[in-house]
Amino acid sequence: MLDIEWTTEEPAAKAGQLLVVPLRDGHDPEAIAQRFGAAVRDAVERSPFKAKPGDAFSFTRELGGALQHVMLVGTGALTDSSALRQLGHDAAREAQRVGAGQIVLDLHGAHGLPAEGADAPQAGSLLAQGLELGTYAYDRFLSEPNRRPLTLASVSVWGRSAAPADGSGRGQIVAAAIARARDLGNGPPGLVTPTFLAQTATEIADSLRKAGHDVELTILEREQCEERGMGCYLGVAQGSDQPPKFIHLAYRPKAAAKGGDAPARVCLVGKGVTFDSGGYSLKPAEGMLDMKLDMCGAAAVIGAFEGAVRLEVGYELHAIVAAAENLVSGKAYKLGDVLTASNGKTVEINNTDAEGRLTLADAMVYASKLEPELMIDFATLTGACIIALGPKIAGVMTRDEALYSDWSAAAERSGEPMWRLPLPEDLKEQLKSKVADMRNTGERWGGALTAGLFLSEFNEGVRWMHLDIAGPAMVSKAYGVTTPGASGVPVATILELLTHPLS
Ligand code: BES
Ligand code: MN
Ligand code: ZN
Repeated sequence: MLDIEWTTEEPAAKAGQLLVVPLRDGHDPEAIAQRFGAAVRDAVERSPFKAKPGDAFSFTRELGGALQHVMLVGTGALTDSSALRQLGHDAAREAQRVGAGQIVLDLHGAHGLPAEGADAPQAGSLLAQGLELGTYAYDRFLSEPNRRPLTLASVSVWGRSAAPADGSGRGQIVAAAIARARDLGNGPPGLVTPTFLAQTATEIADSLRKAGHDVELTILEREQCEERGMGCYLGVAQGSDQPPKFIHLAYRPKAAAKGGDAPARVCLVGKGVTFDSGGYSLKPAEGMLDMKLDMCGAAAVIGAFEGAVRLEVGYELHAIVAAAENLVSGKAYKLGDVLTASNGKTVEINNTDAEGRLTLADAMVYASKLEPELMIDFATLTGACIIALGPKIAGVMTRDEALYSDWSAAAERSGEPMWRLPLPEDLKEQLKSKVADMRNTGERWGGALTAGLFLSEFNEGVRWMHLDIAGPAMVSKAYGVTTPGASGVPVATILELLTHPLS
């Protein structure tokens, strides 16, 4: 974690330091001349640098006999939430690139930065989140010489007010929760098995308890899942030698969000298929290549749980993951099999590659039995959702208008793009079966919607929302504050939602 300080005094210039100066379109070149000399101004003027978002101009200058790194970086007005986070991210990235141990971020002349009021800590939080995310790398499997050296240790933010400092800690907790989700998503499938997810949950629960939080962890083994009749989940898991682990983290806050009454109960359910081969409806090799990503829903709810507890949210929070692998073997479930879920509903399997909804079915029944005020599931559920919305936008399905509006406002604040898709009742027709209560897939078109409709059969009377994160969970080409690999989406939005009043 970075040591981030906010100061209204100009920090002393030091060798090996990176000075970051955000500039806006239409900035005054004379200001550059005054500060860095006419030669720098001329070089900037001749370069493609226009101070547009994404533009950067880097140079070094001699300072008291040593070299200071300087980056001029284009930003929009810093009132936009993603601009501040991006600035922090870009500054940290540049520090890593030049090997600077310290950043001085000059927000003294920056426009649009809230200096006081409720927006100031939010600005501080976004900046800190960006700074931390800029240091993120998954280098666990790189041998020592190929690892990125972690030189960046401290950041001094020089502003006109130190009020945003109040949000720094929060931004760092959010970034750590995102990093947790990314680490799980980036882990190879031979490492991140259902057992590994359960171990991670154990470590998280232990460390949160040590910090004085009321956290409980329940892990159901195969036999206990059998006793509960989780036939859909176990059907998927049975093809693998890796034992299934049904993971349930629970947190009880000291103070309720609304005060007085018992805290509202919120269940977060995540798809935790640690590798999806497709089963006997086997995926082609290219389609299987990324399928370690299929536990990113689980990674998001586990990461968000950890973050929410550290932020001491006022909800009784549950993170639930029915973790399994979807493989082929002599024990694997077959096309034509009929599975019985824990709510008694029977499902004919017409595609073993539609396994996520089966694991989620039993997880949602389990969550519903906790009688939460709110249940949200997160899943890399369908390729169809990527076809519909592209690789960066998550699909949101719910019939609950108030929940949708709270969620989309949270997504807006966190800078994670989402778009609503419908749950058209008449498409349920496609899920009819002659031999069971339903089958697990419909026709090709609208596959994200029929997946959502399938899930709706396993929610009994709870306010519910479904997130299909198949697109944004994994990033192939870096954008925004992501690196190639797992994005940690939508951890930031979950934490936004849980730290603001719900309607
Ligand atoms: N895990 C996949 C969905 C997926 C595909 C996520 C690509 C990320 C990238 C899911 O289990 C799956 O295989 N879904 C099928 C559903 C179909 C059989 C109805 C799909 O999308 O093809
Ligand atoms: Mn699948
Ligand atoms: Zn899957």
